[in-house]
Amino acid sequence: MAMISLAFSTGCSKPASEGETNAGKTDDKAPKTADAKGTDKKKITIGFSMDTLKEERWQRDRDLFKAKAEQLGAQVLVQSANSDDALQNSQAENLLTQGVDVLVVVPHNAKTTATIVESAHKQGVPVIAYDRLILDSDVDLYVSFDNVRVGELQAEALVKQAAKGNFVLIGGSPTDNNAKLFREGQMNILKPLIDKGDIKVVADQWAKDWQPVEALKITENALTKNNNNVTAVVASNDGLAGAAVQALGEQKLAGKVVVSGQDAELAACQRIAAGTQSMTVYKPIKSLAEKAAELAIKMAKKEQIGEKTQTVNNGKKDVPSVLIAPIAVDKSNLASTVIADGFHKVEDVYKDLPKDQWPAAK
Ligand code: GAL
Repeated sequence: MAMISLAFSTGCSKPASEGETNAGKTDDKAPKTADAKGTDKKKITIGFSMDTLKEERWQRDRDLFKAKAEQLGAQVLVQSANSDDALQNSQAENLLTQGVDVLVVVPHNAKTTATIVESAHKQGVPVIAYDRLILDSDVDLYVSFDNVRVGELQAEALVKQAAKGNFVLIGGSPTDNNAKLFREGQMNILKPLIDKGDIKVVADQWAKDWQPVEALKITENALTKNNNNVTAVVASNDGLAGAAVQALGEQKLAGKVVVSGQDAELAACQRIAAGTQSMTVYKPIKSLAEKAAELAIKMAKKEQIGEKTQTVNNGKKDVPSVLIAPIAVDKSNLASTVIADGFHKVEDVYKDLPKDQWPAAK
């Protein structure tokens, strides 16, 4: 398989710090700096309003975004809303009050965050939807992955291993537009097999706020209702997959039932190496974070973004969008994708397995 052209390495992510998870607390206000001619020039200030830092990936997003923006001479004020719609809106208002030049938003709720776009625009501040789209709004740009493709990769990988049987579908948060796109992609693959009668959907539910405990309950109930006759669990991300594998493990079915995931979290890669999770979807976060940081700065300076975009309709308009390709990962390509990219270290992914099961060193 050809190596990914987006090769990079990431450092360790630091956990959420107090100041970033609490309302109203941010880094200091942008200092005034003097340019070469000695005139006062304010540094570009980016407001980064995040839904959550709960899943491993978001800490990477924050760190990589901040690092790139700072390298380009801007500063970033980060807020995280702990899956609270009202808090996210008030944090965004607070960032606007602090005079940010551009707002980058990972919405918890695709609809209620439209208010943030309105407020920002009233102050002439452009808004980028980061990873998740903001619906029914005049949002300026959407930077994400091809999320329908994510769902297709998940279902494709599972039906390659088990094209018939009882399937459990565990969707993500109902307030996250991505969760719907993942499901759309999954159904692109599953629907013909469902229509043919090869696949029977025995559970089809959504996990509030992407909470693993919801996936645990959904999987346990599906197993009980079907006397453990379950072939596949289409879990929409790795957090949900982990809980599904736990429920399967309680019935000695871990590794026998195929399970999908997404995000290439360390625990998921370890489960793939151990054989209890079939696949994950690797999304090169560095490409997303750095692209978003570059474009945010251009938009803050009111420059042309100079980027080839496609459009995604959000209910109100066709939003210019930059969508990065996701990559399916299973046991066969763990080494040539996430490990080769430095996303995880081989000694972390394989730490619980005997050395003879580790991929050969290059
Ligand atoms: C989605 C995101 C996924 C996953 C999930 C839970 O919107 O695209 O990567 O992390 O949220 O936070």
